[in-house]
Amino acid sequence: MQHRYNSFGVLASALIGARAEAVHYPIPTTLPSAAASLDTTPVGLSFEFDVWPRYKLNLSHVWQCMNHVAELYGAKMPIRIGGTSQDRSAYDAAYDGDIYVDPTDDLHRVYGPKHFDLISDYGGETILGFNRGDNDFTNSLEAALAAKSRALDYLWAIELGNEPDIYYSVWGKPVATPPWNKSQEGENQAQWSQAFLDAWGESSSILSAGNYAVPIELMEAYPNTDYLINTAFNDSVKAGVKAYCTHSYALSGEDAELPDEMKHSKTVADLSNFVEKIATAKSVGRPYIIGEAGFHGLETKQDATFGGAVQIVDKTLHAVSMGRLSTEATSLLLRSPARERIVASDSGNDTYAQYVVYKRNLPYKVVLINTDYFSGNGERTATVFRLTGLPPLTLKALRMTAVSSEVTVEDSLPSIGGQTFSDDECTILGDRVFEDVGNLNGTAEVTLMASEAVIVYIDYDCA
Ligand SMILES: *[C@@H]1O[C@H](CO)[C@@H](O)[C@H](O)[C@H]1NC(C)=O
Ligand SMILES: *[C@@H]1O[C@H](CO)[C@@H](O)[C@H](O)[C@H]1NC(C)=O
Ligand SMILES: *[C@@H]1O[C@H](CO)[C@@H](O)[C@H](O)[C@H]1NC(C)=O
Ligand SMILES: *[C@@H]1O[C@H](CO)[C@@H](O)[C@H](O)[C@H]1NC(C)=O
Ligand SMILES: *[C@@H]1O[C@H](CO)[C@@H](O)[C@H](O)[C@H]1NC(C)=O
Repeated sequence: MQHRYNSFGVLASALIGARAEAVHYPIPTTLPSAAASLDTTPVGLSFEFDVWPRYKLNLSHVWQCMNHVAELYGAKMPIRIGGTSQDRSAYDAAYDGDIYVDPTDDLHRVYGPKHFDLISDYGGETILGFNRGDNDFTNSLEAALAAKSRALDYLWAIELGNEPDIYYSVWGKPVATPPWNKSQEGENQAQWSQAFLDAWGESSSILSAGNYAVPIELMEAYPNTDYLINTAFNDSVKAGVKAYCTHSYALSGEDAELPDEMKHSKTVADLSNFVEKIATAKSVGRPYIIGEAGFHGLETKQDATFGGAVQIVDKTLHAVSMGRLSTEATSLLLRSPARERIVASDSGNDTYAQYVVYKRNLPYKVVLINTDYFSGNGERTATVFRLTGLPPLTLKALRMTAVSSEVTVEDSLPSIGGQTFSDDECTILGDRVFEDVGNLNGTAEVTLMASEAVIVYIDYDCA
């Protein structure tokens, strides 16, 4: 689906008073066996295929924002170039420009080799998508081999088709014979994959397979990655697959409202649809990734709100706590050097999230998220998170906040630790301010207004 980049800007928090409810999820003192390893670069950014040149050439603030993340990672942010427009784009080796709209079909695009030079210019791990929807293997292979010659060092994986489950249902595309169910799609993807692998000529696995719009069966025999792994792909195709991929959009109507959409309990329920798929991919030794994430594929207004930013932080942390799973969406809250582990230690059935990050088997960061909604008018509710079982160490906290759940960066910048990101060049403005958090014999209380997130650092260095 079209992926939209949300920069989140910021602002200083004004704690307007309100009644405070309390929630209490004990901190597991020792590393729970369910804790998942954190990838060193768990979150990447997905660029819509036909907007990639414009992002790269003309939207410098995006790259400045990504540099801030790269600094936290110690590596460039991984990216994906794909989306529905990859299946509407033809390669023209002779075209010297960026990309243009086909004059005979305004949905269609034509691009040239420069598309791939821009990948080398970036120089970070890239998942690159090619067109399967138009059923022109020769053109897609020619494009892929051009990408190989121009950007091989950065090609982490290649997608043959984006959201093939919609080729027929939405587009009535020629590749799709009705009803384009899982057996038809699985067979087509297996054939393309094998033919691609034969021509690609490298022994290491390179494909990101699946790329389905949602992980649930929207109709009988809906295409899915379990079917690819268990039935459609033989050993030779499976060996060429590096990762299995699904997209994560809200499984609700497009008229769904932000107050319901941003709820932690809803995020947990949506992501629970991935549990079996993660296990199936793991059973064949492959990671399972979320290639796109957002509220709704076609409705980007909510994604641009601060409530959307709060939700994507929650979704990202919950996803990584479920196993080696990375979402491609924006999050500046997640810093994860190797050997860290994360566990979701909340109940998953209310609006309050608590994630504990462990290092050397000891809790050293707790992320608290209050996904309650605040319109910007009237009273803003507050919730006290009571943390127990903390080591007897100094605590400090960074708060992510904004004036409301509905606000966008055009109106008011959100802040993290009192710092904002300028809307023009994504420059970090202001000084970082940590809050002190008292630790009374292993118990601490942190108050979060509706739509705020706080990282509590358990300060081993100060012990
Ligand atoms: C970048 O901006 C320039 C100047 O506005 C414009 O001519 C060019 O077409 C843009 N390039 C892309 C890829 O959007
Ligand atoms: C998919 O549709 C085809 C054509 O109608 C049919 O032969 C096949 O059995 C279907 N597959 C599944 C898994 O339902
Ligand atoms: C594996 O499946 C692909 C795609 O259907 C097919 O082209 C290939 O011949 C198969 N390989 C073997 C060894 O059966
Ligand atoms: C919420 O989750 C907790 C812990 O998993 C459970 O004890 C409680 O019954 C659940 N509450 C509801 C309303 O489902
Ligand atoms: C401190 O916490 C420990 C462990 O929870 C408890 O046994 C002890 O009674 C507490 N001491 C005080 C003074 O509250």
